[in-house]
Amino acid sequence: MANQEDIFRKVISHAKEYGYVVQSSEIYDGLSAVYDYLQNGAELKKNIREYWWQAMVQMNENIVGIDSAIFMHPTIWKASGHVDAFNDPLIDNKDSKKRYRADVLVEDHVAKIEAKIEKEVNKAAKRFGEAFDKEQFLATNTRVVEYQERSQTILKRLARSLEKEDLEDVKNLIVELDIVCPVSGSKNWTDVKQFNLMFGTKLGASADSAMDLYLRPETAQGIFVNFLNVQKSSRLKIPFGIAQTGKAFRNEIVARQFIFRMREFEQMEMQFFIRPGTQKEWYETWKKIRMNWHLSLGMGEEKYRFHDHEKLAHYADAAADIEFKFPFGFKELEGIHSRTDFDLGSHEKFSGKKLQYFDPELEESYVPYVVETSIGLDRMFLAVLSNALVEEELENGSTRTVLKIPAVLAPTKAAVLPLVKKDGLPEIAHKIIADLRLDFNVIYDEKDAVGRRYRRQDAAGTPFCITVDHQTLEDNTVTIRHRDTMEQKRIAIKDITSAIEKEVAMKYWLQKLAVD
Ligand code: GAP
Repeated sequence: MANQEDIFRKVISHAKEYGYVVQSSEIYDGLSAVYDYLQNGAELKKNIREYWWQAMVQMNENIVGIDSAIFMHPTIWKASGHVDAFNDPLIDNKDSKKRYRADVLVEDHVAKIEAKIEKEVNKAAKRFGEAFDKEQFLATNTRVVEYQERSQTILKRLARSLEKEDLEDVKNLIVELDIVCPVSGSKNWTDVKQFNLMFGTKLGASADSAMDLYLRPETAQGIFVNFLNVQKSSRLKIPFGIAQTGKAFRNEIVARQFIFRMREFEQMEMQFFIRPGTQKEWYETWKKIRMNWHLSLGMGEEKYRFHDHEKLAHYADAAADIEFKFPFGFKELEGIHSRTDFDLGSHEKFSGKKLQYFDPELEESYVPYVVETSIGLDRMFLAVLSNALVEEELENGSTRTVLKIPAVLAPTKAAVLPLVKKDGLPEIAHKIIADLRLDFNVIYDEKDAVGRRYRRQDAAGTPFCITVDHQTLEDNTVTIRHRDTMEQKRIAIKDITSAIEKEVAMKYWLQKLAVD
């Protein structure tokens, strides 16, 4: 079996070969941690955004969507705490001159311990077969228990030191754990320093009058500062939510793992405004709703887990990540944060404007509390793409590469293929395309033998291939081939739209979202 690094390398090269993602400015040797989405990538990204938006905004009477500007008044970032607290702890290796996030070095060390636990579990599962009880094994196996305790102790100490801004202790921890620089292999570390992640820019034509601005590091603040504008114009009553998707920018120090951690990325965020005191309940509700959204895509329950934060951001009283099993292990995909009244309260202070809601039932005004759900669109894209890429052994001994992207998200829903480039078959194929494109993104492909065309569409992630052959001339039927099962059926041309729709239409996928 290929190891994790090989699998990840394959995902990255497949993304380029099949028109999904490439490094930005590639012909100038690229820009680190900045990426461009090509023809298939742009479609997949748009479909993920759409699936999120429909589930969030269209399916909920009390959630509306906005689109606020990337440039915002600089005081917003003072009020939000980002100017003072949006820092990463940095450490340099004196030999390699490489810079690292100190917390990531420690977390990577812990990930290695966790990989040992997984290895033990897999070994035991093999040994005990069906009788294997994972929970019991995790609770009783002495080696595994010791690994778990070690991980917990390290993570707790890291969280405590970061919370107290005790950077000396973070360095001590790195030294005590014998962490070496992955490049030089040495333990020759500098002290740990804080580094602010916001990008600065200027607004205005002349140097004297130009105003210093930041590129927004999260989309959330555009929602907070418009809270009353939306509430008054929509007349929504608490509890209600405001959603938006858009670009965010962070000067990330650790810029690796492809589109997992980027300097320019897109977020899909929703702020849910609630009565103070109800935050615990709503926090649990939104954890459940968001996990349900992920599960509805059918990528496998075992690929997700919750991770409760030990170290809370400056604005939160509870926070959890939905982690996804990427090719490099379980990592954060989405955050659910109980943000209290921190943001609105702080904007009241800094702007001098009231940001309160009059609750007609309680007959009193208050600053609402907020539960936020925040997912990175690019990270979701990576989850979908990496999960979809499969090398499949076929019955005849050959292999095929297939991108099993959930059909609702697939960039192209069907390819229409004339068996040969003559006898009127291309004309019929074009006619079918003209009809299908009113509902779906479809493409025409006549190059190479039909078997090779199937393989090409499998690798590009197209859920259906429609083949027009000589029988079509006689009875107006085509073959429809299913990407995942490779099953082929003969159907009438007039039934193609409904056959495709049943599997790709967003409404059928959204139906799975009802929470008990
Ligand atoms: N408004 C809250 C907020 O921004 P966050 O945990 O910093 O919280 C939310 O970010 C999500 O945004 C993350 O779970 C991740 O999916 C995505 N994200 C954050 N930084 C990112 C980066 N540098 N590159 C890609 N996605 C990122």
